[in-house]
Amino acid sequence: MSDHKKKPEDLRSHRWYGVQDLRAFGHRSRTMQMGYDAEDWTGKPVIGIINTWSDINQCHVHFKERVADVKRGVLQAGGFPIELPAISLSEPLVKPTTMLYRNLLAIETEELIRSHPVDAVVLMGGCDKTTPGLLMGAISMDLPTIFFPAGPMLRGNWKGVKLGSGSDTWKYYDDLRAGKITQQDWNEVEEGIARSFGHCMTMGTASTMTSIAEALGFVLPGGASIPAPDSNHIRLAAQCGRRIVEMAWEDLKPSDILTRDSFENCIAAAMAMGCSTNAIIHVVAMGRRAGFDIGLEDFDRIGRDVPVVANIRPNGDTYLMEDFYYAGGLKAMLKTIEPHLKSDALTVTGRSIGENIASAQVYDSDVIRPLDNPIYESGALVVLKGNLAPDGCVMKVSAMDSRFLKHTGPALVFDDYPAMKAAIADENLDATEDTVLILRNAGPKGGPGMPEWGMLPVPTKLVKQGVRDMLRMSDARMSGTSYGACILHVAPEAYIGGPLALVQTGDMITVDVEKRLIQMEVDDAELERRRAAWKPLAPRYERGYGWMFSQHILQADSGCDFDYLETDFGAPVDEPAI
Ligand code: FES
Ligand code: MG
Repeated sequence: MSDHKKKPEDLRSHRWYGVQDLRAFGHRSRTMQMGYDAEDWTGKPVIGIINTWSDINQCHVHFKERVADVKRGVLQAGGFPIELPAISLSEPLVKPTTMLYRNLLAIETEELIRSHPVDAVVLMGGCDKTTPGLLMGAISMDLPTIFFPAGPMLRGNWKGVKLGSGSDTWKYYDDLRAGKITQQDWNEVEEGIARSFGHCMTMGTASTMTSIAEALGFVLPGGASIPAPDSNHIRLAAQCGRRIVEMAWEDLKPSDILTRDSFENCIAAAMAMGCSTNAIIHVVAMGRRAGFDIGLEDFDRIGRDVPVVANIRPNGDTYLMEDFYYAGGLKAMLKTIEPHLKSDALTVTGRSIGENIASAQVYDSDVIRPLDNPIYESGALVVLKGNLAPDGCVMKVSAMDSRFLKHTGPALVFDDYPAMKAAIADENLDATEDTVLILRNAGPKGGPGMPEWGMLPVPTKLVKQGVRDMLRMSDARMSGTSYGACILHVAPEAYIGGPLALVQTGDMITVDVEKRLIQMEVDDAELERRRAAWKPLAPRYERGYGWMFSQHILQADSGCDFDYLETDFGAPVDEPAI
C-alpha cells in the first residue's frame, strides 16, 4: 500500500477500539459479543458500508449479495467492514415522491457515519434519489468515500423489440390510448420492460446520477456503466472494498476530490449524456454541500458548449445503458468530450480523471458519437427565465419536438393533479396542440416534495388526433426517462406565491429558447392586481417529517436541500471525547 498518511492510532475508530478506558472496554466487549476478536479490528480501518438495500427496492435487490463482495474486498485489504443499512427509496414504490426523502437519506447517511466508529465509507446506491442522498451526507461528513453504483438493469424486451424503462411506459400508454396497441400488448409490455435487478437502463435520473458520481471522482473508472447482472459488477464491488481501505490510510477525502473543476466536469458529462433534468437539482445541492456556489447558470453556460454525444433513450430512439456499456461506457464518453474536461481533477483512484480515461476507446460510434457528429449540437438542458420564473426553470431541449423551441400559445391552468388528470381524459376539453398546459402547486413545498408530474399527459382527445408533444409547464420535476416540451422546476413555486400562481387560463405564454425566455403576456399592473387577490393554500403538514420538510426546504434553483444543512464540509468529525 502506498502513501500512508495515517498510522493506526490516527484512525478515527482508534478512539472507540484503541484506547484503554471504561468506554473502550464496552466498545470492545460488545463487538466481541458479535463474534469478532481483537484481531478483526486492531490496527485496521473500520469501513462503513452504507447499504440502501430493501425488500421493496427493485433496483437494489442485488445489494444483499453485493455487500458480501464489498466486504470481501475490505477484508482482503486489511480493513474491518461493517454494514450500516439506510433508507432505500424505491423510485416507483415510495409515495408521494422519493424527493420528499432524499434529504432524509442525506441526514441519515451523515449521522450514521458520524455516530459510528467509521474511518471511511462505501456508499451503495443507484435508484434515483439514493445517489445524491448518499453523496450529500458523505460530503458533509468528509471521511474517505467511494460510491458503488447499482448498475443499470438489462434491456427490456417485448416481441424482440427493445424496451426502455419509463420512456416506453409513456410511449406505449399513448399507443394504448390511441388504440394502436391492445390491452394484451400492454400487459406483455408490463411483463417485459423490467427484466433484471439494477436501476433504470434509460438515461434517466439513476444512470445520470451514477455517471455524475463517476465524473465527479467518486466511482472507480467505468463503474457506473456496468450492467447490474454482469460479473464485472461483482468484481467492482470487491475492488471498491479493496480501494476504500487504501483511501482510509491515504486520508483521501471528498474535500480533496471536490473542486469547482470536478463539478464543472460532472456538468459537462451530464450535458454530453443527455442527462435527466433532475441532475440540476442534485448537483446544485451537492455543490453547495461542498462549499461551491454551483447554480443553474453553470448548467446553461456549460450546456452551450458541450453537445449530447451519448445516443441513449430518451435522447435518440434506439440505445440503452447496456448498449452504452458495450460501446465503451462512460470512460469512452468522457474520453470523447475530454476537450471540455478539466483533466487534472482528482478521483478516488488517487489519480486524475484524465489518467483514468487515458486508454479508453469507443467501440460503437453510433452509440457514443464523436464531437463532430453529436445527436444534439448543444447540451441537453437549457435554463429559462422571465416573468413566469424569475429564479429560473429548466427544459430538456434534446428530447422534445423542436417546434416548441419558440412558441406562443394560450395557457390551460390546473391547480392540482386530480383536476389535471380529469381534464386530460375529457374528450371535449378545450385545447389544441398549441395550448400550453400548466400544472402548479406541485413544487418543493406545494407538491409536497416536487413530484415527477412535469410530463403532463397530452390530452386524450389530441393523442387520438396523433399529437405526441405539447408545451407543458410546472413547478414539478419530471422523470429522467420522460421526454417532450416540458418546462420544469419553475422557481419560485406557485405554492409560496411565485408568479406561476398568478397565471390564468387564456393568458398567452411565450417560450423562446434562443433568448432563454419564458414569459406570460400579462402586464405588470394586472399581475399586481392578481397578486393582491392571491390567497395561500392550506399547510400540507401539521406534524412529523413533512412538517419539518416544509419549514426548511429550499427552492429548486437552490437544490432543494434543507436550509440548515447546506454549508460546506460541515462540523469537524472530531467529536468530543467518547
Ligand atoms: Fe430505480 Fe428507475 S426505478 S432507477
Ligand atoms: Mg426516474
